[in-house]
Amino acid sequence: MSEILERLRVETREAHEAIERDLAWETRVATHDGYRTLLARFWGFHVVLEPALADVLQDPTFFDPRRRLRHLAADLGVLGLGETTIAALPRASMTLPCDRDQAYGALYVLEGSTLGGQVIAKTIGRQLGFSPDHGCRYYAAHGRETGPMWKAFRQRLVEMAEAGDTDAIVASATRTFDAMRLWLCAAPVPLLDGEGRGPVVKVSHRG
Ligand code: HEM
Repeated sequence: MSEILERLRVETREAHEAIERDLAWETRVATHDGYRTLLARFWGFHVVLEPALADVLQDPTFFDPRRRLRHLAADLGVLGLGETTIAALPRASMTLPCDRDQAYGALYVLEGSTLGGQVIAKTIGRQLGFSPDHGCRYYAAHGRETGPMWKAFRQRLVEMAEAGDTDAIVASATRTFDAMRLWLCAAPVPLLDGEGRGPVVKVSHRG
C-alpha cells in the first residue's frame, strides 16, 4: 500500500473510531425525527465544505459526481422539509481547505464515509422503509459504484500525494474528522421535560 494511504488509515483510525462511537447512528436512524435531524446536520456540513472543495480542486469531472449536498436536500424533501426550510438550516463552522493537499485530506473523509454509509443505508431501509430512490439517497451514496469510486479516489490521491505534502493531507483529514464529529454530535436533541410537558430542545455535546 502506498505511504499516503497507509498513513491516512493508521493516523485517522482513532478519529474514525471516535465518530463511529459518538455518532450513535443506530439510535438516531431508529426514528423519523432522529433520521431527519441527522440528515439536517450532514446538510449543514456539506453545504459549507463542498463549495470550498470545488473552488480549490477546479476539477468538476472528478468532483461533481462526488457531491452529495443535492442528495441530502432530496432526502430532507422526502422527510417533509421545504426548500426554504432546508436553506435556513444551521451551517457548520470549520477551517476550510485552502489548497490541494488540504482539499484531498478533507475529501478522503467524505469519500470514506460512503463505505460505512452502505451499512447505514441497509439499516435505514429495514427500519424506516426508505430506499436510495426515496429518502435514502445520501447514505446510498454511489450505490453499486461505491467500490469503484473509492478505488478511483485512492488512485487519484496517490498520484496527487507524490507531488504534495503528505503531512498536510493527513492533518487536514484528521481536522475534518474532528470537525464532523463535533458538528454531528452537537445536534439538538428534542426531549420531553421532566413532567411530560415537552418537547423542549436541549443541546447535547458529546465527546
Ligand atoms: C460519518 C462518519 C464516518 C466517516 C467520516 C467515515 C470515514 C471513513 C473513511 C475515511 C474510511 C476509509 C478508511 C481507509 O482509509 O481505508 C472509512 C472506512 C470504513 N468505514 Fe467509516 N466513516 C464514518 C462512519 C462509519 C460508520 C458509522 C461505520 C459503521 C457502520 C463505518 C464503517 C466503515 C467501514 C466498514 C469501512 C471500510 C473499511 C474497509 O473496507 O477497509 N464508518 N470510513
